[in-house]
Amino acid sequence: MWTFESNNKKADSAYSNQELRPHTDSTYSNDAPGLQLLLCCKYEAKGGDSIMVDGFKLANEIKQKYKKHFKTLTTTKVKGSYIGDGVLLEAKRPIIKLNEKNNFEQISFNNYDRAPFRETNKKTIDFYKAIKVFDTMANQKQYQWRHILKPGELLIFNNWRVMHGRGAFSGIRKMAGCYINKEDFDSCCRMNNII
Ligand SMILES: [Fe+2]
Repeated sequence: MWTFESNNKKADSAYSNQELRPHTDSTYSNDAPGLQLLLCCKYEAKGGDSIMVDGFKLANEIKQKYKKHFKTLTTTKVKGSYIGDGVLLEAKRPIIKLNEKNNFEQISFNNYDRAPFRETNKKTIDFYKAIKVFDTMANQKQYQWRHILKPGELLIFNNWRVMHGRGAFSGIRKMAGCYINKEDFDSCCRMNNII
């Protein structure tokens, strides 16, 4: 669990008060959190709306409309990295990860945590074209659900499917957050006959 409010001294973009474009958390981890919980503790501000984007919906549209980009996004392993708190974490996954039945399994998209990586010139150009389409769609209002959280309101979302972001704000906005491991959530669902 953690709490955060805007803090210019932190390198992490989540602690700024600028707009945060939709992303998933922990692309640098092989065990990215399954659920993320965000609780609004204090809001004396203007703006700062929470933004949710269904990554599977985006993936499906790209699959239908941009077959070449879909192939790039499902096959290019993108490296994420995190340096801080005495650790250096790195992981590599395609932005759209498919399972053995070619169904969507996980979205891993975070331009803030993306590490430099090198492919051939052609693959690099293809990758940037594809990621531009993905990022542009994620920032179109038609794909976004936006809501300003008020104190006491809690947002829970699937970090393997739903991207989150936050509009720019001014004032005081204090949040608490928490991750829940995907395995623990899946286990709980099975134990309760939910899936
Ligand atoms: Fe985040």
